[in-house]
Amino acid sequence: MRHAAVLLLLTVAATAAEKPAVFAPYTKPTNIAHRGASGDAPEHTLAAYELALKYGADFVEPDLQLTKDGVLVCLHDTTLERTTNVEEVFPDRATERNGKKTWPVAEFTLAEIQKLDAGVWKGKQFAGQKVPTFQQMIDAVRGKAGIIPETKSPEVYGKLGLNMEKAVAEILKANKLDTPGADPKTPVVIQSFSAASLKALRTDHGCKLPLVFLFTADQSADQLKAMKEYADGIAPSKAVVLARPGIVADAHELGMSVTVWTCRRGSTGKFTDVKAEMTHLVKELKVDAVFTDNPDQFPRE
Ligand code: G3P
Ligand code: CA
Repeated sequence: MRHAAVLLLLTVAATAAEKPAVFAPYTKPTNIAHRGASGDAPEHTLAAYELALKYGADFVEPDLQLTKDGVLVCLHDTTLERTTNVEEVFPDRATERNGKKTWPVAEFTLAEIQKLDAGVWKGKQFAGQKVPTFQQMIDAVRGKAGIIPETKSPEVYGKLGLNMEKAVAEILKANKLDTPGADPKTPVVIQSFSAASLKALRTDHGCKLPLVFLFTADQSADQLKAMKEYADGIAPSKAVVLARPGIVADAHELGMSVTVWTCRRGSTGKFTDVKAEMTHLVKELKVDAVFTDNPDQFPRE
């Protein structure tokens, strides 16, 4: 009888060890500031990153693009016009695409991009904010939160002879942030919608950091298993998880973390507010991490 009880205890302990409540690299339900605290400050500016830290975000997200001279900068779009005054500063440098003028990041050097204002579109009080380099972002966040860069549209840059994965691997190495646990105060996770990008990081550049795969359509347990070859975690849109909450258990069964995106004020569906939405995702659906424009609203214990 005593042996049976001991065996039961050991089995329970082993199962708990196999299926931790929270998955590496997350050590608790994790609050990720999406493009910084982008609900309250202009996305991807130092102001947004600093506000995210003030709000207590666990991780800060930079989306990455590459300049003409190969420097990683923090910007969501492959073009500059939505979030900067490029149209005003470089009126003659537009490219025509589908009958519309556009200003691709890859056609501007870092020195040129640094002439742009990236804050005033969000409010006069943010005038003077610049497009930060990834190095400036690292310097602002290091020691205060984790960093979760996204390789954004790497195929666009590949066609131009620019290798985003190589640039990311090199900058993380130069900052001694290229291995898990290298700086306990600054864990680094890399995310992408591009499986090829994650595979390149792992195989061509020997990346040992946790990799997270972003997607927008439901995936079966078998499909998640296939993803495990190149990703340590999944990052479905919140719509996927809300439609089929079982995807969280499917991922956890495989030892993969679940990060959802994006929770923001004014886009919370049936929930009364963004805090209620994040509370449901974290506490009831048991996702491990949430990207949010409003990191001040993330539910804590
Ligand atoms: O990276 C998570 C989420 O940010 C994906 O969407 O378009 O905001 O980069 P997006
Ligand atoms: Ca992103």
